[in-house]
Amino acid sequence: MDTKILKPTEKTMKYAAKLLKKNYVIGFPTETVYGLGANALSKEAVSRIFKAKNRPEDNPLIVHIHDIDQLEDITYPMNDVENKLAERFWPGPLSIVLKAKSSMPKNVTAGLDTVAIRMPAHPIARDLIKISGLAIAAPSANISGRPSATSAKHVFKDFNGMIPLVIDGGNSQFGLESTVVKVLDNYIIILRPGAITKEMLQEVALVKDGEIDNTDTPLSPGMKHPHYHPNAKITLVKGTSNGEIKSKIKQLIAAEKRQAFFGFKYLINQDLFSKYREVVGKDRLFDYAQNLYSFFRECDEENIEEIIIHQVPKKGLGYAIMNRIEKASDIIV
Ligand code: TXA
Ligand code: MG
Repeated sequence: MDTKILKPTEKTMKYAAKLLKKNYVIGFPTETVYGLGANALSKEAVSRIFKAKNRPEDNPLIVHIHDIDQLEDITYPMNDVENKLAERFWPGPLSIVLKAKSSMPKNVTAGLDTVAIRMPAHPIARDLIKISGLAIAAPSANISGRPSATSAKHVFKDFNGMIPLVIDGGNSQFGLESTVVKVLDNYIIILRPGAITKEMLQEVALVKDGEIDNTDTPLSPGMKHPHYHPNAKITLVKGTSNGEIKSKIKQLIAAEKRQAFFGFKYLINQDLFSKYREVVGKDRLFDYAQNLYSFFRECDEENIEEIIIHQVPKKGLGYAIMNRIEKASDIIV
């Protein structure tokens, strides 16, 4: 199959909608990461997503909607807290796990009686859902276990020959997957942290961390699978002070290895690395999140053997960043 990358012209959007209606899988941008989308109500279309990604069948998908009315056929009515979350954070980078109606194919939910729903804010994603008139099931557009795709080129790289179309919406704004939450007894449980932070959720209701207390039967099945990994080995540097982190990084430098550094400025000679990216800007954590996965993917193209990254404070967006890099890292020093 020939895989096209097309700009989101009116013609492209109509073509994309037609492909979805014919149960094809396509790549499309959202404000978090790119999605690999298909008609959520077709078991056959959804099974094509799992096949393309080589995704374990026990890992359920997020269903993307354009407006609340679309939920009528697929989920039971939301409770108070869920409604407040939707009002406050939709459209946006938040997925809410709701009770699924039986119309939802079993492969979307991986056999659970719930389904994760997200109303994306990205105009192309919104148009696509609206024009096709479908709810779109879409995991991140990467081969399972690889870093999520944050550009059309990344999607092309992983799925060239497997899907007919990737809609090119430029680089993803947030660069990390959506926050996934579930409401239990009026508590919000964070199943996967993201750009809608704990602090923001706390303004709606009490928040508990979901990942911590579930090892055998995780509330969010996806969290137990290996994730976000480039070919290079990832070394995560931890420390209680900048001085400690800096001295640990210095000790890791090995002239014979192709090493890359990604993170804050630690005043270490950047020529010591084969690849170097300092996060910048007023909000360094935003830059960190936005560029992390694309940096991982660039490292693979440049045959980097080891990526050195460092911890960030687990507050705000830092909580989501740490969640991803702790899962991605091979060694923690
Ligand atoms: O930002 C995002 O969320 C992107 C874009 C494309 O929307 N999608 C994404 O999907 O990251 P995926 O499939 O890579 O991650 C979905 C996560 C997994 O951790 C999965 O286990 C969890 O959501 N999930 C899905 N349905 C669930 C359910 N019914 N109950 C608990 N967790 C669920
Ligand atoms: Mg994913």
